[in-house]
Formats: sequence, structure tokens, C-alpha cells
Amino acid sequence: MTTPTIELKPSSNPLSDAEREAILASPGFGRHFTDHMVTIKWTEGRGWHDAELVPYAPLAIDPANMTLHYAQTIFEGLKAYRQPDGTVATFRPRANAERFQASARRMAMPELPADLFIEACDALIKQDRAWVPDSGEASLYLRPFMFASEVGLGVRPANEFLFMVIASPAGAYFPGGVKPVSVWLSEEYVRAVKGGTGAAKTGGNYAASLVAQAQAASHGCDQVVWLDAVEHRWIEEMGGMNLYFVYGDRIVTPELTGSLLPGITRDSLLTIARDLGYTAEEGRITTEDWKRDNENGTLTEVFACGTAAVITPVGSVKSERANWTQGDGQPGEVTMKLRKALLDLQTGHTADTHGWMHPL
Ligand code: PLP
Ligand code: COI
Repeated sequence: MTTPTIELKPSSNPLSDAEREAILASPGFGRHFTDHMVTIKWTEGRGWHDAELVPYAPLAIDPANMTLHYAQTIFEGLKAYRQPDGTVATFRPRANAERFQASARRMAMPELPADLFIEACDALIKQDRAWVPDSGEASLYLRPFMFASEVGLGVRPANEFLFMVIASPAGAYFPGGVKPVSVWLSEEYVRAVKGGTGAAKTGGNYAASLVAQAQAASHGCDQVVWLDAVEHRWIEEMGGMNLYFVYGDRIVTPELTGSLLPGITRDSLLTIARDLGYTAEEGRITTEDWKRDNENGTLTEVFACGTAAVITPVGSVKSERANWTQGDGQPGEVTMKLRKALLDLQTGHTADTHGWMHPL
């Protein structure tokens, strides 16, 4: 099967420069969308076809669309950053393309060729490049996604899918900026089980997390920390971020057990931390380890990391049985050093020694 080329059908009605600038002055996260979107269809027997860059617009969905009922859907998240010379680059898009393929395999969906995934993102950014913010750590967040577009109520893999990319200018994910978040250890609800879909970026994982997020909020916490589904004591990850534990100059992130998302920021930080002279490891940490090592002072900092959230310090921890301040509750030195190193790389302020930036 041949790979389709993306046909351009430009918007005849884009937002005015003034309207766009007003949005870029305070974009928030995921609230505003650029003027265009990419759509590529997949049909059983025909493969990928009808690749188009079209004006951003609502979709007409049949009430019996299979995704609405059985949630055969996956997504990605990556960012485009304005570089010091005014050009634009994305961060590790091939890693997102490959994770999208892994999610597709788990959800019995067709795999989009990685080159087409990257081309689709590039085409949208090039068309809407005026939407890439040029201030500080603001960026253009890209949301590639795919869902079953077949109509019918039979429970089986669909034979038609729609892949799309939309883009949204992004300021800070947490409106408070780099402010430590409070976390709730979820002992009642679990996010994922061995053999389940935890390692796939599929909508159902997020739907299933919302009740625990509401529980966290009712206890005054910003975010949920998910524990393993069997013993309810091994730390896995947060709702949309991975976790790192800082022991002086050694940083540790929970190993990939199959039930947590293999974050690209998480993976990048293993390398960036080593570049900065830290020891960086994958390991296993329980809630008891966390509490004890914080009390005895060996666990100096904890932070969360992800595309949307960048790096966010964890300032306090709560569960049904415990409640403690992480360190002194303030952003730690290692956390902030890694955050700066990551953002400097993404925004082109340090050399890209690992070939991670994808210039457009
Ligand atoms: N864990 C979950 C559940 C996520 O949704 C995300 C966000 O994509 C992450 C971790 C972090 O992954 P990444 O660094 O690739 O954005
Ligand atoms: C991301 O960081 O890209 C995420 O997907 C997190 C969240 C917005 C779901």
C-alpha cells in the first residue's frame, strides 16, 4: 500500500492576527485551537488514504459510531517550540510516532507509518506556524489521535479509522506556574493492571482516572499518584505524568512494568540527568519507602514530568492514613536544574547533542 501525500485545503476564514495574538498572550492549556487540522482515513483492504490539511471544524458523528460506545481510540501529545532564530522545532516526534504505533497494537488498531505521523504534524505546524508562541516556555501542543470511525454496535475491531492532528497553543499546564503540587495516593482506585491498557495512551485510561482525580480534589490535592493494582503500594505514575525520586545526586523513576505509560520526558530525563553528572536509574519504590526516606532526609526531592506538565515539583503527599510535606515543600535544586536543562534544549538554548530536535 502506498503512503498518501497530504493535500492542502486552506481555511478561507482563519482568525485575524489580533485575535490570535490575544489568545497567545494567555493561552492556558488545551482551550484554543489553531486554524487547521490534519485528517487521514484508514479503511480495511485499502489502508491509509485521503490525507488532508483542512480548516479546523467540528466533525459530524453518527450516533452509532463505534468509538462512542466501545472507546477504540488512542492519542499522543508533543510540542513545537520557537527557536532563538525564529524557526520552529518539535521534540522527539519519532518517539511519539512509535508510542502511537504501540498504542495502536494494544488497541487492535492499524499502525500509522512513523514518517506519515511526523509529516502530518509538520504539515499542520508549517501551515499554522504563526500560532507557535515565541515567549519563554510557551509552545504549540500537538494532539495527534485516532479513533474508530465505523458505524455499528458489534463489539470487534473497527474496519474504518480516522487519524487526526489538532494543535493548541500552551502556556503552563498548571496555572500556578512552577508551584509544587499536592498529591493523593490512590489506594481505593487503580489505573491499570498487568495485561491491561496502562502502557497505551488510550482514552479509557483517562476516563477511568477521573473519579480518583475527583477524590484527590475532595482531599485538597491537585493530582493522583497511582499505585500498583495488586499490592497497592508500588508507586507507578500520575494521571498525565511520570514520577522521579531524587536521592541527593541519584534520581530514580519507577520501572516500566507494563501498567504505566512509557513517558518520553521520563526517558529523556534519564539521559539529561546523566549528562549533568547525576546517577539516573529505573527502580521500584513503595509508599512506605517514600514516607520513610522523606522523614530520614535521604529522599530530597520528588517531581513529576510529562510533555504537558514539563517538570513539576511534588510538595506534599496525602493518603487515607498519612499526610506529609515532601522535603521543605519547595521546588528542589535538582528538580529545577533538570527542568531548565530540558527546556533549554527544547527551546534551542543549548546544543542538541542527542539529535532529539526535529527542525521544520
Ligand atoms: N503518564 C501518563 C498517564 C500520561 O498521560 C503522560 C503524558 O503524555 C505521561 C505519563 C508523560 O508522557 P510524556 O513525557 O511522553 O508526555
Ligand atoms: C501530555 O503530556 O501530552 C498528556 O497527554 C498529558 C495530559 C494532557 C493527558
